[in-house]
Amino acid sequence: MVELVEQELCIVFLNQSHIRQLLKLEAQCFTLPWDETQFSRLMTGEHFKVLGMMECGELRGYLSFLHVRDQAEIMNLAVHPGKRQKGLGKKLMKALLGYCRIHGVQWISLEVRMSNVPAISLYQGFGFKEVGRREKYYTDTGEDALVLQLELADALKLPFSQKI
Ligand SMILES: CC(C)(COP(=O)(O)OP(=O)(O)OC[C@H]1O[C@@H](n2cnc3c(N)ncnc32)[C@H](O)[C@@H]1OP(=O)(O)O)[C@@H](O)C(=O)NCCC(=O)NCCS
Repeated sequence: MVELVEQELCIVFLNQSHIRQLLKLEAQCFTLPWDETQFSRLMTGEHFKVLGMMECGELRGYLSFLHVRDQAEIMNLAVHPGKRQKGLGKKLMKALLGYCRIHGVQWISLEVRMSNVPAISLYQGFGFKEVGRREKYYTDTGEDALVLQLELADALKLPFSQKI
């Protein structure tokens, strides 16, 4: 899939050749960044997909997920610190929802730090609901994770601005 978003921005599926750029962005965005082995191991499997937001050849954001039958799990979503609050996170989410519709995914789930207001707000805007918590899930701070889930049928009821 290659989705044209704007003149200089496009969303493409990333592969092993993008790992250097992924690792750089990962280090800029997370306190517990994934390493090369983690990306490489998952990328060799058929279920792991990474949508990348490219601008003039530079990776500005990505959304990684696992897709198995009618379920998808968001593994990570990140936008370069200098490119945030410009709608790139929403564009990546809309690209995921487009993929899920085409491939018959019914449910999308994810884990997010309880303190991560920007991410929780983004997910709630797409209709994600809290379905559980994992105590002391994050090893660096001991913070709990919220488990959020979206039933794709609910995404159809979103306000026009969020629709894909
Ligand atoms: C979460 C993240 C991906 C959002 O990306 P973004 O490109 O800035 O998001 P957008 O500009 O598309 O904003 C989408 C929505 O997110 C929410 N949001 C984004 N930044 C926010 C902030 N600083 N405070 C509160 N809400 C915020 C809002 O609901 C916003 O919708 P609105 O513009 O209609 O109010 C980005 O902040 C990021 O990379 N954070 C670090 C990595 C991370 O925590 N990832 C989540 C892992 S689960």
